[in-house]
Formats: sequence, C-alpha cells, structure tokens
Amino acid sequence: MSELEKSESESGSRRHKFDPMPAKLDFVQSATGLFLALFMWGHMLFVSTILLGNDAMYTVTKFFEGEYIFGKSYPAIVTISVAIVFAIFILHALVAMRKFPGSYREYRIYKQHMKQMKHSDTTLWFYQIMTGFVMFFLGSVHLYIIMTNSGDIGPYASADRVVSQWMAPLYLLLLLAVEFHGSIGLYRLMMKWGWLEGKDPKASRKRYKRAKYIITAFFLTLGLLTLAAYIKIGIAHQDKVGERYTPTASIQQYEGGIA
Ligand code: HEM
Repeated sequence: MSELEKSESESGSRRHKFDPMPAKLDFVQSATGLFLALFMWGHMLFVSTILLGNDAMYTVTKFFEGEYIFGKSYPAIVTISVAIVFAIFILHALVAMRKFPGSYREYRIYKQHMKQMKHSDTTLWFYQIMTGFVMFFLGSVHLYIIMTNSGDIGPYASADRVVSQWMAPLYLLLLLAVEFHGSIGLYRLMMKWGWLEGKDPKASRKRYKRAKYIITAFFLTLGLLTLAAYIKIGIAHQDKVGERYTPTASIQQYEGGIA
C-alpha cells in the first residue's frame, strides 16, 4: 500500500470512528431526569403533609434539618441538599437544550410534522419541550429562594412565602409544568429503555400511557390541594408575617426528649 493510500485509509477510519458522546449525553439526560422525577414524588409527598396539619409539616421540616438525629436544627443540611438538586436540575436542562428547536424554521417544521402525524407521542414531546422551557425560569427562582432561606421553612414561614411574598402564582404555574413534564418524561424513559416492557409493545405503550395519566392526575390533585392549604394558612396569617409556628405540647415534649 502506497503512503498516499495508507494515509487515506487512516483518515477514512478516523472519519467513521464511532462517537459515543451523543449516547453518553442521552444517558446523562435520562439519569438526571429519572432522579428529578423521583425526587419530585418525594418532594410533593413531604410538602403535602400540611394537609395532615401544621404539626405534621413542622415535624417533616425538622426531620430534614436533622433535629431528630443531632438534637438540634441545622438548616445548612437543607441548603446543601437544595444545592445538589439545583446542580442536577441545571445539568438536566443543559443536556436537554440540544433537543430544542434551534430556529424558527426548525420550530415550524416540527409543528407541521406534529399536525400531519397526529401521533400522541410526537405531541407529548412538544409539551415536554415547552414545560421544560418554563421550568428553566420558575424552577430556578424557587430553588434559589429555598436554598438561601432554608431556615424559613415551616407551616407559617412557607404559607407566608406563598401568600405575603407572592409565590402562589409562580407555584401554580410551576406545579402544572412539573407534573406534566415529569410524567411525560417518565413515560418517555419507559418507552426508550423498554423498562417493564411485556411481550406486546403496543399493549405496553397503552399500559405506560394509562399509568402516566393516573400519576399526573394524582400529583396534580395533591399539589393543588396542598397549594390551597398554604394559601388558606397564609391568608389567615397575613397580619402576623414573620411569626414562626410553635408546635403543640406533644411535639415539644418529643423534641425535649431528644435534645
Ligand atoms: C431540595 C430541593 C427543594 C426543596 C427543599 C423544596 C422545598 C419546598 C417547600 C418547603 C415548599 C413549600 C412552599 C414554600 O416553603 O415555599 C415547596 C413547594 C413547591 N416546590 Fe419545592 N423544593 C425543592 C425543589 C423543587 C423542585 C426541583 C421543583 C420543581 C422544579 C419544586 C417545585 C415546587 C412546587 C411546584 C411547589 C408548590 C407545591 C404546592 O404547593 O402544591 N421544588 N418546595
């Protein structure tokens, strides 16, 4: 083989070398998405303890501040946890950005395909992109505020933030975006990686879709009820903003026993 042929064949094999980066980015997107979706289920369940009463939410807050382990509250634990979630949230958004339509022309082509195909998964992808875009802004505001005010989480402090500090409209939009984005994301993950896939792919798709609707309805209802509860407490507490919740005697006794 001549030198020229040799160098041509080398550059050819370099050109056709498999680039693992797109697959790696896809994996990072799936893994961070899965983490965030599961985190949101936990988050919604913990935040919704307000529906069981002020003491229940207070106890959960103190638990996350480490009071029942160290005998004293450390809001810094919450700050660090939020910072970790925030970093994963940013990483997820960063790798997802490459899938956004890059120009008005691309957007128009996509919309046209969506109209022509009338395939529900193509339409769901569009909703996911849109809700993801909304979350860039609303999610960042919430995470930054919670990260820098981790000592101000509790039945009164949270309700004051929702009503007197005007977070209610932001939370309502964020809740809608998160619930649709998260459940569509999980559905797409199941389809993509074939988790829990049975023998009949069509039947599996139907099953995933039903599960997606049930999960969205459940967390949306829970979220709206939770928001309504914080709004109710926040309105009643409007002229005492800044006052912190004092737990009932039985919780205080328990805390005293630990300290
Ligand atoms: C470790 C991270 C997080 C912590 C500690 C946290 C904490 C809280 C707390 C304490 C509330 C009650 C209201 C308040 O105190 O302001 C709340 C509400 C809310 N959070 Fe988070 N949050 C975190 C991450 C997230 C993320 C990543 C999202 C979505 C992007 C999110 C979405 C929401 C929504 C939608 C509400 C309103 C829920 C409702 O009232 O129905 N949170 N969060």
